[in-house]
Amino acid sequence: MSDLLVTDIGCLVTNEAAIDGTSLGIIHDAAFAVTDGKVSWVGARSEVNVGDYQSVVSAKGKTVIPGFVDSHNHLVFAGDRAAEFSARMQGQPYAAGGINYTVEQTRSASDEELRANIAALVAEGLTSGTTTVEIKSGYGLSVADELRSLEIAREFTEETTFLGAHVVPAEFKSAPEDYVAMVCGPMLDAVAPHAKWIDVFCDRGAFTPAQTRQILKAGIAKGLLPRLHANQLEPGEGVKVGVELGAASVDHISHFDDSDIAALANSNTVATFLPGAEFSTRSKYPDARPMFAAGINVAIASDCNPGSSYTTNMPLMIALAVREMFFTPEQALWSATKGGALALRRNDVGHLSVGAKADFSILSSTSYLHLAYRPGVNLIEQVWRNGNQIS
Ligand code: NIG
Ligand code: FE
Repeated sequence: MSDLLVTDIGCLVTNEAAIDGTSLGIIHDAAFAVTDGKVSWVGARSEVNVGDYQSVVSAKGKTVIPGFVDSHNHLVFAGDRAAEFSARMQGQPYAAGGINYTVEQTRSASDEELRANIAALVAEGLTSGTTTVEIKSGYGLSVADELRSLEIAREFTEETTFLGAHVVPAEFKSAPEDYVAMVCGPMLDAVAPHAKWIDVFCDRGAFTPAQTRQILKAGIAKGLLPRLHANQLEPGEGVKVGVELGAASVDHISHFDDSDIAALANSNTVATFLPGAEFSTRSKYPDARPMFAAGINVAIASDCNPGSSYTTNMPLMIALAVREMFFTPEQALWSATKGGALALRRNDVGHLSVGAKADFSILSSTSYLHLAYRPGVNLIEQVWRNGNQIS
């Protein structure tokens, strides 16, 4: 007997293309069963015998979507940078250097303060439908502070990322190569047991392509998997370095050209767009259409951090991707779910086919189109993870 039946689903988004020949794999008038926290059957509501299930949940004709997979976040920090945001809205440019302010605040915070801040942000994301979250370090930038950042992050997710190479901290300003050596040596040794991924901010004011290669290769040698902040602030080699080293994802890509598209098209690296960063830094949004035209797998994520995108709200990312980056609503929903899962090399989340984790949201609308069409409105009525209602 299955544990749970979710039925009366007006529109079920499975992301299983074989179902209807579209990437969202939609079934109308649908139902699905959950056994041991996993999807065990998916089909037409008319095929269901309600008496076969321990509990039955009616979606009342509304839409059910896979839980969002938010594949890029910086949640281990203290304090905020509201004043910096305000100055930016009055014309100041965004620069990588603001990160050092958050580094100071984070270093002087207690473990309990950091833990409470992450817990609040993860809970906030959950209520807006995020069931899988990636968390980076990167505001500690000393061996001890990067280590505790990742130890605390691990309490909340298995998708932890070592971002010791976020910026060069103030105390290494005159000796950046010494900092790179520390990241590749003692810092990496300390954090490796607590991280799945290694990331580098390869951009103006952060790390060069050569330093990025060196750091990612050191991480790979320690068993971490590469991903990358690339081409946020200016065009550069970041995307190509990521592809060359087999990164699961290159993120931001606010600037790209045909050679970046060619590199991504011949790889299994995901292109992750972070529309919250363009929004919050008042930067030009990239046009994602050439990525889709080239058949590249695309993700969108919230990039929650106190500097460039202080939001956990994936429906807002969908709305921005559609309105500002020329995603179709279907591409945006897929990118926020299945795309995020590919960016984390996960095949158990981001879709609702048999065997997937039963991570899903019931919307208050009858169509997923409302996620983009009704921006800023909370449409996430219920959130379920592993077959349990959590919001
Ligand atoms: O992804 N780009 C680098 N890191 C963050 C910003 C961090 C900050 O400004 O504190 C980002 O946008
Ligand atoms: Fe980021």
